[in-house]
Amino acid sequence: MLNGVWVVGKGTNSVVFKCRPAIGNVELTCKVRRGDASRPTLAPEGQLLQIANTVGVGPRVYTYSRDVIAYFYIDGIPLGKWWASARVEERGAVVEELLRQAFKLDTIGVSHNELSRLEKHVLVERGRPVIIDFESASLGGGNNVTQVANGLMRLGLKPPLDALRRYKRCLCHEAFNDVLSQFLQQLT
Ligand SMILES: Nc1ncnc2c1ncn2[C@@H]1O[C@H](COP(=O)(O)OP(=O)(O)O)[C@@H](O)[C@H]1O
Ligand SMILES: [Mg+2]
Repeated sequence: MLNGVWVVGKGTNSVVFKCRPAIGNVELTCKVRRGDASRPTLAPEGQLLQIANTVGVGPRVYTYSRDVIAYFYIDGIPLGKWWASARVEERGAVVEELLRQAFKLDTIGVSHNELSRLEKHVLVERGRPVIIDFESASLGGGNNVTQVANGLMRLGLKPPLDALRRYKRCLCHEAFNDVLSQFLQQLT
């Protein structure tokens, strides 16, 4: 708390506050560009998050400009912290949803690019994972499932290498289902 303002996070390029619009009773998060930021604008991040929103991924964008992105507040816990005290069934549900979200991003060609550090870039809100921070995201490619798999490995799961290799080649449903089921096998 800073003079009545909730600071929820601080990065090298931005400060993140809880905020609300002048009209309407919704809780938002405002990601504000720092004066000393190396990035000249937050607009590409806002735009990529908005594209992710079209497949239901990421906090919903309210508005954005060069210096601020306002999106819906997520009342959640960083995945790394959540994971430590989650039951195995809860972990399974979160892993499944996370992989499905990564697959959707692959389908539309939005690459998050920082998902292998899952523990910081996913918040868990009422048992549901929300992917945040599209700062390094880009259009084209689509290797989010691979990134998530690497992140899950850091949380102690064994990556299904053969299925991942096949998925990388075809980006298809069949290989994805194999990746998913081999991860979920470890969480039952
Ligand atoms: N929609 C959100 N709801 C709640 N907290 C958020 C939200 N977005 C970001 N945060 C918090 O702010 C922190 C920094 O946000 P992030 O987008 O990762 O900024 P940076 O890239 O500058 O680190 C996050 O780790 C998280 O704790
Ligand atoms: Mg960041």
